[in-house]
Amino acid sequence: MPATVVVGAQWGDEGKGKIVDLLAQQSDVVCRYQGGPNAGHTIIVGDETWKLRQMPSGVVSGTTSVIGAGCVVDPQVFVDEVDLLIERGIDPAIVTLSGNAHLIMPWHVTIDQASERRLGNLQIGTTRRGIGPAYADKASRIGIRVQDVLDPKILRQKIEIALAEKNLWLERIYEVEGFDLEEVWARYAGFAERLAPFVGDVSLLVDRALRDGQRVLFEGAQATMLDLDHGTYPFVTSSNPVASGAATGIGIGPTRIDRVLGVSKAYVTRVGEGPFPSEIEGPDQERLRELGGEFGTVTGRNRRCGWLDLVALRYAVRVNGITSLALTKLDVLSAFAELPVCVRYRLRDGSETEHFPAHQSDFHRARPVWEVKAGWQQGLDGASTVADLPRAAREYVEFVASELEVPIELVGVGADRDRVLA
Ligand code: GDP
Ligand code: IMO
Ligand code: MG
Repeated sequence: MPATVVVGAQWGDEGKGKIVDLLAQQSDVVCRYQGGPNAGHTIIVGDETWKLRQMPSGVVSGTTSVIGAGCVVDPQVFVDEVDLLIERGIDPAIVTLSGNAHLIMPWHVTIDQASERRLGNLQIGTTRRGIGPAYADKASRIGIRVQDVLDPKILRQKIEIALAEKNLWLERIYEVEGFDLEEVWARYAGFAERLAPFVGDVSLLVDRALRDGQRVLFEGAQATMLDLDHGTYPFVTSSNPVASGAATGIGIGPTRIDRVLGVSKAYVTRVGEGPFPSEIEGPDQERLRELGGEFGTVTGRNRRCGWLDLVALRYAVRVNGITSLALTKLDVLSAFAELPVCVRYRLRDGSETEHFPAHQSDFHRARPVWEVKAGWQQGLDGASTVADLPRAAREYVEFVASELEVPIELVGVGADRDRVLA
């Protein structure tokens, strides 16, 4: 099966980076199709830890890696990650960056921060990396793209046009300082030299790889529940992490995708604001956070923790067309005697549903209906196949697969690259 999308099935941080790194070792091309440096993908290889924000996780194994048109790129983060590759002995020439990807400009970051401040209690809890404002400008057709930095005259003109409006907003609405044309221009023109060698036709590259029968991975950032169209709007990101986003974000047809691997934790985490029905009440939340190391990679914030939510996962199976699942961090649950799983939502009229509510008010007020599974209360370090897992752990995995009617292909039992059972 040459073309596989790896997609987050929850609210992000499911361990996509680690799964992509694992599969990349048997792939020819890895593609990031949306998002930007709001992502934080951690990959642990022996005593080396990678925390990638902008680059596809394929770079860790030295696999050809591309950043598609659907992404937003912070040139400073990109350049820093190029330097990281060089430092770690990986030739950055494996990376191709779409000229159609949009650039995160300094005012995007300032507006992201200022608008969150203005929202106060109603804030989204963004990563404050300028993601929303960059995608907003793209949709308004006033964005600045990677290819624009290659021509200093065009770049200057575009910055000038943008600043004429942005500085008004910044100064009059947000009451913060605006930006100086010459300074921004000089800085971004300076990036041109560093970016130019990487800019290429990503759509053509991936099309050729697929025609040649190569194995191509599409790495989602963020996740289904953070999808702009299908997530828990407005508490979402500004791109389309869902699997079909891979086709638009890279520039291939949807018929080219063969399979969709959803990545889900054996429990749930969420960073930022927004409803979260299976969030744990009481001290187990803190315990799970400590055991799972659930602190954000990008912002260092505490991740909110909940028990596994099968209603949300069933929805993720539907909107992504998930063909199999990777269930990560099963080892983190080893300490608990009982494992509640949310199997249905109880709605405000008292009815119960196993389908994700289509109306936001129903979702906001949904209460979990739990089915409590037995824990296994022993470490999983000894297991090298699923058959070695304690019986209760196997039953937990089988329960999830049978409820979702999707095979579970991989089970994560530790942070290291090797700690995945097939
Ligand atoms: P991503 O954003 O989906 O790539 O996920 P993150 O990297 O932000 O968060 C997942 C965290 O869990 C990382 O720190 C990984 O090293 C870690 N991790 C991934 N899989 C497992 C697993 O099976 N067990 C344990 N204990 N940790 C894991
Ligand atoms: P990875 O790829 C978890 C969340 C933010 C916020 C919302 C909008 O590591 O799974 P944004 O900065 O995108 O405008 O923030 O989305 N968010 C993530 N949560 N993992 C991520 O990425 C996230 N990227 C954004 O916390 O709630
Ligand atoms: Mg992450």
